[in-house]
This record gives sequence, C-alpha cells and structure tokens, in this order.
Amino acid sequence: MRNLSNAECGVGNAEWIVRRRESELVSGIEPSPSIPHSAFRIPHWGWGGAAVMGFPHKPHPRETVLLSRYFGDPEATTHKGWVKRGGYEAWKQAQTMAPAAITEVVKESGLRGRGGAGFPTGLKWSFMPKEKKRPHYLCVNADESEPGTFKDREIMRWTPHALLEGVAIAMRAIQAEVAYIYIRGEFTEPFAIMERALAEANQAGVLGDLKVYLHRGAGAYICGEETALMSSIEGKRGNPRIKPPFPAERGVFGMPTTINNVETLAAVPHIVKRGAPWYKAMSLSSPKSTGTKLLSVCGHVQKPGNYEVTMGFPLKDLLYDLCGGMRPGRTLKACIPGGSSVPILNGEESESCLLDYEGCIEKGTMLGSGGVIVFDDSTDMVYQIMRLARFYAHESCAQCTQCREGTAWTTKILERILGGQGKMPDLDLLLDLADNMTGKTICVLSDSCAAPVVSGLKKFRGEFEDYITGKRQPVLAA
Ligand SMILES: Cc1cc2nc3c(=O)[nH]c(=O)nc-3n(C[C@H](O)[C@H](O)[C@H](O)COP(=O)(O)O)c2cc1C
Ligand code: SF4
Repeated sequence: MRNLSNAECGVGNAEWIVRRRESELVSGIEPSPSIPHSAFRIPHWGWGGAAVMGFPHKPHPRETVLLSRYFGDPEATTHKGWVKRGGYEAWKQAQTMAPAAITEVVKESGLRGRGGAGFPTGLKWSFMPKEKKRPHYLCVNADESEPGTFKDREIMRWTPHALLEGVAIAMRAIQAEVAYIYIRGEFTEPFAIMERALAEANQAGVLGDLKVYLHRGAGAYICGEETALMSSIEGKRGNPRIKPPFPAERGVFGMPTTINNVETLAAVPHIVKRGAPWYKAMSLSSPKSTGTKLLSVCGHVQKPGNYEVTMGFPLKDLLYDLCGGMRPGRTLKACIPGGSSVPILNGEESESCLLDYEGCIEKGTMLGSGGVIVFDDSTDMVYQIMRLARFYAHESCAQCTQCREGTAWTTKILERILGGQGKMPDLDLLLDLADNMTGKTICVLSDSCAAPVVSGLKKFRGEFEDYITGKRQPVLAA
C-alpha cells in the first residue's frame, strides 16, 4: 500500500487502487476482483496501470547486459546454476589476492557507488583501517526505497549469488568477518530467494569463515541512509547520525564499517574476473563514469522496466528506442533521471542528457540511483511535485527542524495551491523554504524534498501560477 502511494505510482494512477482497497478494508469486504491480487505484489506500475511490470524483458540489442544477463533465468538463482555460468570464479581468484590488491583493482576500474551518491568504491574501501585491531563489518544496502528505483530487487531476485560473490570479495578487501544484508521489508520474494541462496552457499562451503546475515527493514525510507541503516541494524530507531565520525572509523556497533549498494557489489566479481581496464573501457562519454548502469524506467513510456546500458548512454535513446517512446499521441514533458530526490529535467533537457554522473550534472540534475521517472504532456506537474513533497514529509525522521518543519510546510503550501487557495507570494515562500532546507541538515532527505520543488518552479512556474490565478480548476479540496 505504501508503494502504491509513491510518486511514480501516482503517475501511473495507482491512487485509485489504494483508495478502493482502503475503503474495502474499512468496510471489511473482500478485495474487489477487479483489482488483481498481483497488483499488491508488484512494486511499480506502468502508465494507467495497464503495463504491469514484474518479469524482465528480452534484452534490447543496444543494452550492455552484464548484471542483468541472467534476469528471467530461474536456474541462475541456484548455486549449481550459478557455478555453471561461471559464478564464484572471481571469488576463487580474489582469495589468492591480498586485500589491498583487490581494493586497487576496484579503484582502478573507476567503479562508483550505485546507491545514489556515486562515491568511488575502491577509495571507500581504502578508508578502512589497514591494521586490524577491531572487528570490521560490511553492510549491504538493499533497502531500495528511493521512489522510481527497482533494480536491486531484480539483482537479488534473479542473481542472488552474484550479490553474495560481490559481498565475499568486498569482505576480503576490507578484512571484514561479518556482513549484514539490509533488505527492504516489503521485498518478500527477493528475501526468500536470498535466504535460499545464502543457505546453499553456506552448505557448499563457498563463504568459508565469513558470516553473512540477512536483516529485514521495516518500511522506513530513511533506513536506506547509511548511518540510519546502521542504527537500525543495531536495533535502534533508524535515525541518521552526524558525520564525522565516518563509518570506516566508527560504523555499526562502533566498529570500522563499509556500506555499499547491491548493484555496486554485484559489479565487483566482473571487475576482478575481467580486469580494471576492461571495465574502465565501458564508457561512452566521461572517463569518470565507467561500467554499466541499471536504469529503472517508470511512468509514461510504452515499455517500462530495468534497462542496463553503458555509462554515458543518451537518455533520449533510452526513452524512445529501448522504452518504445511515449504513449500514442503524447509528448515528453519532463523526466527525473536519478530517483525522486534529484532535480527535474524538462523535455528539452531530457532529450540532450547523457546518462552518467557528469552528463546529469551538466544538465543540473544527478544520476542518483538511476530511477528514471517519465512524465508526458498530460501530467500536472504541481500535483506530482506535491506528491513528492508529501512523501518526504511522511518519511522525515524529524530530528532536524529544517527538515521536519520544511517538508511539512512545503506540502501544506502545495496542497493549498492545488486547492485553489494559493497566493503569488507562496511561490517565493516555497523557494525560501527550499533554501533553508538545503545543505543544513544531518542527512540529505531535506535537500531531496527541496530539489523537485526548486527545479519544478523554475521550469513549470506557469502551472503553479495558473492554479493561483484561477486559470486551472482546483484538484484538491481546500
Ligand atoms: C534518505 C536517503 C535514502 C537512501 N536510500 C538508499 C537506498 O535505499 N539504497 C542505497 O543503496 N543507498 C541509499 N542511500 C545512499 C546511502 O546513504 C549510501 O550512500 C549508499 O548505500 C552507499 O553505497 P554505494 O557507495 O555503493 O552507493 C540513501 C541516502 C539517503 C540520504
Ligand atoms: S534531514 Fe530529515 S531525515 Fe535527515 S536526519 Fe534530518 S530530520 Fe532526519
């Protein structure tokens, strides 16, 4: 139910399902047969609820299938099947290498974190103490709560051993004896698959003395933030912590810790096996962005889904070629390329944006987690921005005043505008609030709420003004 209230599901008109199911639950009646049961198990909907996502597509010839090569192949989920496909060869190789040598290869490859911030992975590993005086930990971020993002789910669902292999290699590189894979609570199917894969790997003795535990989240977006995730693993409320100290110095249980995203770790075995130069060569634009990226595309395209492309791939080609373009008769209005936390691009900017870290920055946005949310010309941008703000207000952990008050106040103003009660000074107030919410808090959830508001107002100001001047009919009750 929470998923269906996310912004990208709003684009797909999923709200009616939520409202209807809520009324059924309140009245105690059986779920309507017109709402397929599977709707509640499929995290993200395509447009109009018609293009239900869930099963991987046949790779498009322009995709570079590295991590997604075995998506849709059930045999690859088993230990036997994975070994048959060359799995765990990189782990065997890594066991012959010194930890620093593994870190060096990953550093050289140019791999950057796929969780959102794009921090260089090898460099992060090199921050761990070289001399081991205390236990070291690896935390795997499989929380994947960023609206619009659904690629880690697929990695765990189809290639759980790829993640375990990446985890084992990373553990050796940072000299960790224990790893926690923190999985989003709603991911029931990927959790069951990971559980089975871990049991198989342990039974086959693949992991040796390494201890890997699966830990389920309980549905809070903020627990995807790395310090909140550690607090949650420790059994505390998932509140972000002030940095420094950074996790490599004082992480989970106060010990040196590295935190990496699922997609980041799943890329590591390929790098170890085929070498840094091979990985580095996969780059279509900036040499600072290497390898492949899984992009989760949702919203108003004909073929939503996960697409894996080489860094630097044009966003225009992703939308029109791989995803089949807009719905018939519709044109591209806007796009959020990196999950809901990054600035919105208008149609023109989207059509000239290259999908890598630098290409997105050049257009004033970020690659983030690679959750591409697409809006066509039928979209009410004010409404969509309000939905995003409402999400952040709901998910704020409330420790910082700017975030607690700012996200709620922003939502209230946007609701007021949509209810036909807005005033022109509200627009400047929104920008002033956004300024106070940016760069001033413990974590960047607050900034994430401000980003779509600022970019939305800059690019679609006329739509806000139309609600205020009465050119547009109110869509919310005042
Ligand atoms: C509010 C918030 C939510 C986040 N959610 C996730 C998430 O669901 N998954 C993830 O991998 N990273 C998430 N991150 C980023 C993590 O804090 C962290 O940067 C990342 O897990 C590091 O892994 P990487 O270097 O491999 O990308 C989030 C950050 C913030 C501020
Ligand atoms: S910015 Fe928001 S979510 Fe992050 S710590 Fe502060 S109050 Fe919590």
